[in-house]
Amino acid sequence: MTGLPASPAALRTWLGLGLFVLLCLGIGQALEKKVVRSKVGEKVSLPCCHEIPSSESLHKYRVYWQKNITDVVLAYSEGSKIFQHERYQNRTEMDPWNLTLWISPMEILDNGSYQCVVQRNSVLVCSESVILFVTADFSTPNITAEVSAESCDSTEMVITCSSHGGFPKPKISGALNNMSVEWNASWVSESSFSPYSVTGKLVLNVTKDVNISCSVEYSGFAKSTSLLLKKTKNCVVPPVPPPYNVITASIIILITFILAITLAARYLPRHVCSQCCKRQDSAEEGVKECTKAPMSSKMTSETSSV
Ligand SMILES: *[C@@H]1O[C@H](CO)[C@@H](O)[C@H](O)[C@H]1NC(C)=O
Ligand SMILES: *[C@@H]1O[C@H](CO)[C@@H](O)[C@H](O)[C@H]1NC(C)=O
Ligand SMILES: *[C@@H]1O[C@H](CO)[C@@H](O)[C@H](O)[C@H]1NC(C)=O
Ligand SMILES: *[C@@H]1O[C@H](CO)[C@@H](O)[C@H](O)[C@H]1NC(C)=O
Ligand SMILES: *[C@@H]1O[C@H](CO)[C@@H](O)[C@H](O)[C@H]1NC(C)=O
Ligand SMILES: *[C@@H]1O[C@H](CO)[C@@H](O)[C@H](O)[C@H]1NC(C)=O
Ligand SMILES: *[C@@H]1O[C@H](CO)[C@@H](O)[C@H](O)[C@H]1NC(C)=O
Ligand SMILES: *[C@@H]1O[C@H](CO)[C@@H](O)[C@H](O)[C@H]1NC(C)=O
Ligand SMILES: *[C@@H]1O[C@H](CO)[C@@H](O)[C@H](O)[C@H]1NC(C)=O
Repeated sequence: MTGLPASPAALRTWLGLGLFVLLCLGIGQALEKKVVRSKVGEKVSLPCCHEIPSSESLHKYRVYWQKNITDVVLAYSEGSKIFQHERYQNRTEMDPWNLTLWISPMEILDNGSYQCVVQRNSVLVCSESVILFVTADFSTPNITAEVSAESCDSTEMVITCSSHGGFPKPKISGALNNMSVEWNASWVSESSFSPYSVTGKLVLNVTKDVNISCSVEYSGFAKSTSLLLKKTKNCVVPPVPPPYNVITASIIILITFILAITLAARYLPRHVCSQCCKRQDSAEEGVKECTKAPMSSKMTSETSSV
């Protein structure tokens, strides 16, 4: 099965559809304005709507290149330049045959809608608009992370992402291990036609190592960076309850120990004391302790015998 229609009726439908699509494309092209995207400093060409046939020359024509309807960028009459906007001086050239306008180097202020108007012997031949979007590249975003607080469970970090020198005003987006996050963004620009700086801030509680990315998007372009955030504080040996046999062993050892001490207290008090007295004769404290020790041991032995 190729999917091609077999019956004549189906074929007619297909042809009809094809025609419809073609019509739509035609209409779409007629309605759609020409768009040119360019970067600051580059050379850009803005196409016009007429090509002068080789049998003729620019002498019979008047050509106007205007910006935003009102400003004349460049005007030609009888084959020579009759006007040139000051801002475009030494930056523009017009092709004498297809009337394409070349601008170089591109500036941010050049952004806007341009019209080319062609007259022949004072009769309008055509006019057409072309929209010029000027962009300037942003720097690769710089992500920095600063630890603001930390505990055993999490590390609180202030993440900053910044990028500068671009145009137009960008969007800033982020992802945390593939989950989108919102930056608290702020923009700085000297004017609406100056390069922008953008800074995004974020406070995060990092409980495990995560990958954060920051993306700056402007006029169909994007620059992004990612950074691996490491949880900084790792607490030494968390208090995990020991297994049962360890507990039992500890209890047995403890009981044996207590038993040994009790036995020692009962049968060796005088012996130990005489030794300690001899050893610590000089120190008064030693003597005091010495006198106290047998009394307390006697008391315990009395109470235990009761
Ligand atoms: C106009 O002519 C120049 C060369 O003369 C060519 O580079 C450019 O592509 C042409 N533009 C159009 C729209 O035909
Ligand atoms: C274009 O012209 C219109 C008025 O005709 C004005 O409101 C608008 O600000 C102009 N735009 C630019 C970019 O100069
Ligand atoms: C254009 O170039 C000429 C000659 O190189 C120079 O005299 C003039 O000042 C320049 N104009 C601008 C606006 O830069
Ligand atoms: C650039 O010009 C286009 C067309 O006039 C306009 O839609 C767009 O907003 C302009 N861009 C800026 C940043 O002003
Ligand atoms: C990123 O920002 C930090 C702090 O502002 C700075 O020290 C560093 O040089 C920057 N790195 C780049 C590549 O711009
Ligand atoms: C990120 O998520 C998208 C869908 O949300 C998925 O297609 C992609 O594989 C994921 N990438 C990674 C590295 O997890
Ligand atoms: C974003 O930052 C501004 C100033 O830095 C602050 O006033 C505001 O509360 C912050 N917004 C959020 C949602 O964190
Ligand atoms: C991070 O966690 C600490 C305590 O666990 C809490 O006080 C703080 O508000 C949290 N910060 C954020 C941004 O969720
Ligand atoms: C972080 O994620 C981005 C995509 O979201 C990926 O391109 C990058 O390689 C990752 N970096 C690390 C250190 O895992």
